[in-house]
Formats: sequence, C-alpha cells, structure tokens
Amino acid sequence: MPSFLPNRGPGRLIVVEGIDGSGKSTQLALMSQWLRLRGYAVAFSEWNSSPLVRETTRRGKKKEMFTPTSFSLIHATDFADRMERYILPLLKAGAVVCADRYAYTAFARDVVRGVDRGWVRNLYRFAPKPDLAFYFKVPLEVALGRILGGRNALKYYEAGMDLDLSRNIEESFRIFQGRILTEYESMIEEMGFQVIDATKSIESQQKEMRRIVLREFGRTRPPGVLGVELNATRLHA
Ligand SMILES: Nc1ncnc2c1ncn2[C@@H]1O[C@H](COP(=O)(O)OP(=O)(O)OP(=O)(O)O)[C@@H](O)[C@H]1O
Ligand SMILES: [Mg+2]
Repeated sequence: MPSFLPNRGPGRLIVVEGIDGSGKSTQLALMSQWLRLRGYAVAFSEWNSSPLVRETTRRGKKKEMFTPTSFSLIHATDFADRMERYILPLLKAGAVVCADRYAYTAFARDVVRGVDRGWVRNLYRFAPKPDLAFYFKVPLEVALGRILGGRNALKYYEAGMDLDLSRNIEESFRIFQGRILTEYESMIEEMGFQVIDATKSIESQQKEMRRIVLREFGRTRPPGVLGVELNATRLHA
C-alpha cells in the first residue's frame, strides 16, 4: 500500500486527528501558543480550508450532490493545494506546521463513505509523513456530548446523511461517527499515532502532548530561517 513521503524538513509537521468533538482544535491551539513561546516559527493549516475549492464545496453541499468519490476528490484537491502553496514551503523554511486534521481524516471518513481503502491512500501518497500525529481517543458518547451540548444544528454531510444511515440526523451522526471511530482505531498502530486520552482534562492532555513534543523534538529549535534569530534573542534575553 502506498505510504507518505518523508518530511525532508528542516521544519516539523504536527497533526491532530480524532472524531468530531474529541478536542483536537482546543489542544492544537494551546500547543501552537506554547511552541511560539519556545521560539519556533509556527504555522497553522486546517482541513478543507483552501480557497481553491471553497465555492465548489459550498455549492455541492448546498445541493447535496456529492457522491462519496467526488467528496473524496474535493478533499484531496483542497489538501494538495494547501500542501503546495503553504505547508511544503513553510516546512522548507523551517517552520513547525500544525495541521488540524490530515490525510488520516480522509482515510477514516472516505472509507466509511464506501471509498476503497487503497484508492484513498494512494490519493495522498504525495504528502509528507507527519513528525507527530496525535490521535485523540475518546468514547463516542463523550465526544457527542461535547458537540451536541455546544451547538444546535448538525449539518447534512457531517452527520453522514448522504449514507442513508437513519432519517434522524442525530442518530445518523452517531452511527457515522461511530464508524469513523472504528476506522481511526484500526489505524493507530499502522500510522504510528501518539494516542492521547481525550477524556482527560484539557490541562492534563496538553501536558502530555508537550512532554511528547519535547521527547521527539529535543529541546533545540529546528534550523530554519523564519523568526529564529528574533526569537532566539527573546528567549535568551
Ligand atoms: N478535555 C475536555 N474536556 C471537556 N470539554 C472539552 C475538552 N476538550 C475540548 N472540550 C470542549 O469540547 C468541544 C469540542 O472541542 P474541539 O472543538 O476542540 O473539538 P474538535 O476535535 O476540534 O472538534 P471538530 O472535529 O468538530 O472540529 C468544545 O466546546 C471544547 O471546549
Ligand atoms: Mg476542530
């Protein structure tokens, strides 16, 4: 099965993965702040955020006209665009790129939508392998409680309504997320995820992540051009 390319650096790539409501964005925001304070040049990239596909995605979603394959291709296009224009140049310049979801999201979601496992992995084979991939492991009910408690309206595709799992949107969301969770679990070993117990407090998860980053990256910054001198002066002042 095709795999990722090595990250040739000198920057580092950190990604967060897990089902909706597992706490990824919360933890990544805290992690980015901390890395900045440690003198790293930090950049951030979010799943499905490229301007290139925004209009197509919006129109396709509105009319509920995506098939699993076209949905998968749209996400891969978004990813490729962000990779070329943003992530790779920043890695080459020595930044730490923090990605809120990565190709693993496609591996989990698209497969649940019925796309062939090998096919979707092949789509992303141009991507660099993350230096650290955190997986936020959480029981379905905990994540659902956070999500459903925090906002009122679930959206059609995020609830997997295109799969005809249930006519009830909340029930569909539950079944869809449950299947995605199973896919994530089956990737833990294969993908070398750093598993974080996402039922714990925000503080204790963050502490664990920082411990892992220090262990993996060491206490020195990667050699790079972005902001290093400026930050070095600040750090040693
Ligand atoms: N450890 C935690 N304990 C309790 N609540 C939490 C914890 N972590 C995050 N939350 C809350 O749960 C909700 C979802 O968190 P967050 O947005 O970080 O999840 P996410 O994984 O990024 O979700 P999505 O995939 O939908 O973007 C937020 O309201 C957040 O404040
Ligand atoms: Mg999020």
